[in-house]
Amino acid sequence: VMLRILVLNGPNLNLLGTRKPEIYGTTTLADIEQEMQRRAKELNCQLSFLQSNHEGALIDAIHNAKGQYQYIIINAGAYTHTSVAIRDAIEAVEIPTIEIHLSNIHAREEFRHVSMLAPVCVGQICGFGAMSYMLALQYAVEMGKQNDEA
Ligand code: DQA
Repeated sequence: VMLRILVLNGPNLNLLGTRKPEIYGTTTLADIEQEMQRRAKELNCQLSFLQSNHEGALIDAIHNAKGQYQYIIINAGAYTHTSVAIRDAIEAVEIPTIEIHLSNIHAREEFRHVSMLAPVCVGQICGFGAMSYMLALQYAVEMGKQNDEA
């Protein structure tokens, strides 16, 4: 069976490319998704993408991922720092989830240093710009293959 990975993006990430390019770069979310899709084809896995500015929509997507996806990659944007509800959803579905950020949240304002999600995620990748997404994809695919062989 093909490995299926859900890629979730939270609030304001639809503005990538024009939003504070000195921090987030000039790559758009469509560019990132296209590059991930290209890599996923090579790696023989299936990706689904959802971006939402609404907390509840992200939570619904996490719930609906149960039984459908083996991994979740999430850039929850500012909800990372505030959302106990997204954290609880990740914990509830028990799908291994990788938290990612374009920027190094630990090098920025103090309020970005705390992640509500990190304790229920496999790990956190941040500070590598668009490459954060590709690194998370690599992890999911390699772990997914190992689990498939086991
Ligand atoms: C972000 C970091 C968050 O602090 C911020 O609110 C974002 C983007 C990142 O990818 O660097 O919206 O998640």
